[in-house]
Amino acid sequence: EDQRITRIKNLVGGFPDFPKPGILFRDIFPVLRNPGAFKELINVVVEHVQKTAPDVEIIVGLDSRGFIFGPMVAHALGIGFVPVRKSGKLPGETISVAYSLEYGKDRFEMQKDSLKADQKVIIIDDLIATGGTMAAACELVGLLKANIVQCFVVIELEDLNGKSKLSAPFKSLIKYS
Ligand code: PRP
Ligand code: HPA
Repeated sequence: EDQRITRIKNLVGGFPDFPKPGILFRDIFPVLRNPGAFKELINVVVEHVQKTAPDVEIIVGLDSRGFIFGPMVAHALGIGFVPVRKSGKLPGETISVAYSLEYGKDRFEMQKDSLKADQKVIIIDDLIATGGTMAAACELVGLLKANIVQCFVVIELEDLNGKSKLSAPFKSLIKYS
């Protein structure tokens, strides 16, 4: 497992001063460009979920890079997928929350009927920086009274200590400090 993760980490890009001065932007897309690494990454995530949360019932993925990983994991596990979207994109009755992230502010929404009370959820995103994004998703899932069994990200920027904003169990695959 460690070898697979090292191979994936070696493909992650780093771009200084993007999208704003002072941000070192970690880019997951070179991993996806490499078919072997892409497959390995999804396999590692799926195995991790099977090991740590075998009773998970549904995957929640975060707009927009969580939409790459979340549905692939849900599909592999044979369970459903629910999106958290940036505001104004979801039809029907929605709930919404404002949040701040490393380089800005935004608003997240979910459809009111998208999760059932007590349903066992894993929230998946590509990356955690300040944790504002993941904390906002947890707030929405909590408002729908579902049960967050884990918050999962591929990349964790450890120095920003985003996980301290979360009360649910947290796991990351690749860490930068
Ligand atoms: C990025 C990233 C995470 C979030 C992390 O998304 O994909 O969702 O920021 O930052 P935080 O931990 O400080 O909140 P972004 O909002 O840039 O949107 P995108 O996925 O649509 O590119
Ligand atoms: N990379 C990708 N997304 C991000 C980052 C980053 O370094 N920081 C906050 N969101």
